[in-house]
Amino acid sequence: MGATTSGVVAVTGATGDVGGKTVEMLHDAGAHVRAVVRRPEQVAAFEARGIEARLADLGDEVAMTTALDGVDQLFLVTAATRQQRQHGSTGVRAAAAAGVRAIVHLSGGDAAEQSPMPWAKAIWEVDRDVRASGLQWTILHPSGFMTNLVSSAPALAHGVFPQTMGRGGIGWIDTADIARVATTVLLAGEHVGAEPVLTGPELLDGRGVARALSVGVGRRIRYLHLPSRVFRAVLRANGVPSWQAEGLRQQFGCVARRGLDGVDVMTDEVERITGTAPTSMSEWARANRSALVGADQPASARQPVSGQL
Ligand SMILES: NC(=O)c1ccc[n+]([C@@H]2O[C@H](COP(=O)([O-])OP(=O)(O)OC[C@H]3O[C@@H](n4cnc5c(N)ncnc54)[C@H](OP(=O)(O)O)[C@@H]3O)[C@@H](O)[C@H]2O)c1
Repeated sequence: MGATTSGVVAVTGATGDVGGKTVEMLHDAGAHVRAVVRRPEQVAAFEARGIEARLADLGDEVAMTTALDGVDQLFLVTAATRQQRQHGSTGVRAAAAAGVRAIVHLSGGDAAEQSPMPWAKAIWEVDRDVRASGLQWTILHPSGFMTNLVSSAPALAHGVFPQTMGRGGIGWIDTADIARVATTVLLAGEHVGAEPVLTGPELLDGRGVARALSVGVGRRIRYLHLPSRVFRAVLRANGVPSWQAEGLRQQFGCVARRGLDGVDVMTDEVERITGTAPTSMSEWARANRSALVGADQPASARQPVSGQL
């Protein structure tokens, strides 16, 4: 991707998964990118890589407005925290005050006004602010991130994928594909007023995930269905805050009941926008093998992979 935009592109959440990959891709494409981060050492780290960076917390509208000075487009990424709605709205107001021309918002496939999941309701509200901002906008609605599966690494290393999603499918997406879409949209300046739903190339239920992971990492992994309360307890034991663990319990309960939260869809938007097909779960698992199941073992110590789990 070569740069076609000449204006400054600011990115929040620039030290995170999607934001970090997008900064990298924009920089590699020769765009003038500005990372907006909240710690001085993060500014220094970006500058050491030759990437402009400014210090601003998304909770601080004045600092954000200053950090967006001279910016043409903003890729607005907020973290799934209790402050997400406030952070998103602050970002939108600061962009308008700073004279930013266009916002690309990282929303979610699950964004919904009445959702029991706090993050899905928060991003729905931020989407509403973005549409009402008076700026040009594009809203990206990705499905569940493949990188979420890294949190199951301790179990995966023992050959088990514990979840509560049952037969419900998710159009799991590689966050690098989301970043490719964001980069393409920001570089081309097209897709104004569009809200693409972004998914991977296949809809996978619990067994489907386990099968694709098995193929990718070259070891047998089987799906272990957990009752939703056990799932929540496991999340809590792994340090997930209670509000988030309950939200995830509700979300995967919806997935298991199929079709109730907007992530059980598959689209061809990634390929339509970027010209390249999205990464499959098994390709992603192969590339992220050590994060999922740890360092290599001798082939003799591996369990055989079978299509039937
Ligand atoms: N996970 C999924 O399956 C999924 C699916 C659809 C949509 N989404 C959406 O994707 C977004 C998260 O993207 P991600 O996973 O790429 O994020 P992430 O890796 O969790 O990173 C969050 C970023 O936000 C920054 N941040 C946190 N609090 C901040 C503050 N007060 N001021 C400024 N920056 C702050 C973090 O900076 P530090 O490094 O300083 O902490 C980090 O750069 C959320 O909006 C979520 O709703 C997620």
